[in-house]
Amino acid sequence: MSPDGMSPDGHEPPADAAGEGYRSAPRGRFRNAFHFSPDAQMVTDGRGIILDANHAAAELLRCPKEFLIGKPLALFSVGGERPQFYTVINQLARGTATVTFETRLARRGEEPRAVHLIAWSGDGDGAGVRYLHWLARDVTDLRRSEAARAELQRRLATAQEDERRRVARDLHDTVSQTLTALALGVRAVRDAAPLPEPVLSRLDHVQHLADEMARQLHELATRLRPTALDDLGLEAAARQLVADWSARTGVAADFQAVGFAEQRFPSEIETALYRVVQEALTNVAKHSGARRVAVVLGRSDGSVVAVIEDDGTGFDPENVTQTPTPGRSGNGRSRLGLFGMRERVGLVGGTLEIESNPGQGTTVIARIPLSAPPG
Ligand SMILES: Nc1ncnc2c1ncn2[C@@H]1O[C@H](COP(=O)(O)OP(=O)(O)OP(=O)(O)O)[C@@H](O)[C@H]1O
Ligand SMILES: [Mg+2]
Repeated sequence: MSPDGMSPDGHEPPADAAGEGYRSAPRGRFRNAFHFSPDAQMVTDGRGIILDANHAAAELLRCPKEFLIGKPLALFSVGGERPQFYTVINQLARGTATVTFETRLARRGEEPRAVHLIAWSGDGDGAGVRYLHWLARDVTDLRRSEAARAELQRRLATAQEDERRRVARDLHDTVSQTLTALALGVRAVRDAAPLPEPVLSRLDHVQHLADEMARQLHELATRLRPTALDDLGLEAAARQLVADWSARTGVAADFQAVGFAEQRFPSEIETALYRVVQEALTNVAKHSGARRVAVVLGRSDGSVVAVIEDDGTGFDPENVTQTPTPGRSGNGRSRLGLFGMRERVGLVGGTLEIESNPGQGTTVIARIPLSAPPG
């Protein structure tokens, strides 16, 4: 106890844990700091019964201070989240110094408020009386704008995929058909009459160009949006992607799908994982100098996982900036790939891990839960 009769943490100790003796704490300048703090602050006893509350707390809970005192703090929590308070109280009782958590507090006649809480335990009088201090910040508006931003990004990602699907289909239905007609026309001319050798070889060349253009167009359309992803699902589309990539780059690639059994998943999850595999393979070809790549799709514990592992040069993920670098930097790299992968996976509630060390290859792991709704 300090000379002015206050506890070391600025609160007068209560006569008993239920708070009847907790009359005028905190005092002096501490009292002003407590009562006029812009953050909601409360003091409870060891069982979570409110002993004191400042103006911001009364405002947050839309309750006069007199009404708050003597009530269990958990009473103001949204029903289903009430046990969380008792978990925190138990943690503090067991000696955890500080607990930080987020919950929703109910307000009569209004929408609940999302609140970020910090709770810590203070030894009031050195005689075993414990107070719990609660500092609450209303994060409702922040969470709403985060949710709105995530929703907007999700819509943008969906719109982008829809657009790619449309362009891929248009390429197939228009230019691709015209090219086929061109190739057939050339063949017809070639077969129509005996032609001099120079004309024949020119026609062969034109035929070859038409075939090559058709192949490139098909590859472009597939990269934009493989029809297999919509028609056959992630496993088939990724298997094809890995095979095409390996043939194009000459890097040996092994593909496995574990626990899939040709199962389909929500389109946004399949698309996100497909795009992760696509970008990870592009990175392997661009940066790693790898000789072998293994791509594994797996389903376990209610999530779908994609793992892309290479035996290349590796890099230090910490050194690669977490934010995108739009445009081309001096070394000719835009560095949007890893950022884009993380964003995509995050939008469907998943996580992206990158394990890499210089000289030891790289493993990219995307994990998306199946049950949790996106966002
Ligand atoms: N498999 C890998 N092996 C070695 N280095 C890698 C690998 N994947 C990524 N990197 C490193 O991480 C950096 C960031 O990758 P990221 O995909 O974000 O950007 P980028 O490939 O350079 O450009 P962008 O993908 O935007 O065209 C790369 O420039 C490279 O240095
Ligand atoms: Mg990249």
